[in-house]
Amino acid sequence: MEVVIVPNAQAAAALAGQILVDVLRSHPAPVVGLATGSSPLGVYRYVLDRGVSWAHASAVLLDEYVGLPPGHPESYREFIRREFLEETDLPAERLHGPDVHVPGPELPAACAAYDRLLADLGGVDVQLLGIGSDGHIGFNEPGSSLGSRTRVKTLTATTRADNARFFDSPDDVPRHVVTQGLGTILDARHLLLIATGAAKAAPIAAAVEGQVSAFCPASVLQLHAHATIVVDEAAAARLELAEYYRDTYRNKPPWQPL
Ligand code: GLP
Repeated sequence: MEVVIVPNAQAAAALAGQILVDVLRSHPAPVVGLATGSSPLGVYRYVLDRGVSWAHASAVLLDEYVGLPPGHPESYREFIRREFLEETDLPAERLHGPDVHVPGPELPAACAAYDRLLADLGGVDVQLLGIGSDGHIGFNEPGSSLGSRTRVKTLTATTRADNARFFDSPDDVPRHVVTQGLGTILDARHLLLIATGAAKAAPIAAAVEGQVSAFCPASVLQLHAHATIVVDEAAAARLELAEYYRDTYRNKPPWQPL
C-alpha cells in the first residue's frame, strides 16, 4: 500500500488522473474501473483534458442502484456517461455495469454474470475508488465480507443521507444496490483510491492504519499488492504515519513508478 499525501484536491486529481492516462496510453486494450461520487470528478476532468483515446478501452462500473428506471439521471451508468465518458471516444457498448433491470429473483444470477464478464475482459487494469464516510468502497457497507463477490447490498442510513443531495428527496435514494464485492475489487491489478477533504480523515485513518476488518470495508486495500491511496492534507489529517508517507514520496526513486 502506498499512501501519497498532496497539498490539495487539485493535486490529488492530477496525480490519480495521470495514473489512468498512463494505463490508457500503455495498454493495448485497457480495462479501467470507474467510480462515482464527487471525489473522482477532478480525476475525470484531468483525464479529459489530456485528450487520451479510449477507442480500445473498456470501462467498468463499480456499483449501481437497484430500482431506478433505465436512463435515470442518478443511475451510476448515466452519471459516468454524462460526467465523463460522453466526452471520450469510448464505444458506447464498452461501458459495462451490472444488469440491475431484471426481476429481483434474477439479480444474483446477473451479479454472477458481471463477475464473469470482468474475468472475460481479462480483469481490471486499474480500479479507481472513492471512500464513503462509513468506510465503504463501491457500495460495500460495513459488515461486508472481505471475500465478497458482486451482489445485492442494502445501504446504511448514513450512506442514504450522504447521497440524498443527488435526489429530490431523501426518500428517493434507493435502499438497494448491486456492488462489486470486496473480493471482486481485490482482483483488479491496481487499486487507486482518492479521498479529499476533512470529512474523509476518519475513514481514511481507519482504512489505512486501522485493523483489516469488515467494519471498515476500505481496510481490505491493505491486502492488495498494488494499492495507491491518494489523499490531500485535509484527508490525511488523522494519519499517524503521515510524515513517513510524505518522506517516502519526496524521496521516491525515479525508477519506482506509482
Ligand atoms: C458512493 C459511491 C462510492 C463513493 C462514495 C463517496 O457511495 N458508491 O463509490 O466512493 O459515494 O462519494 P464522494 O466521493 O461523493 O464522497
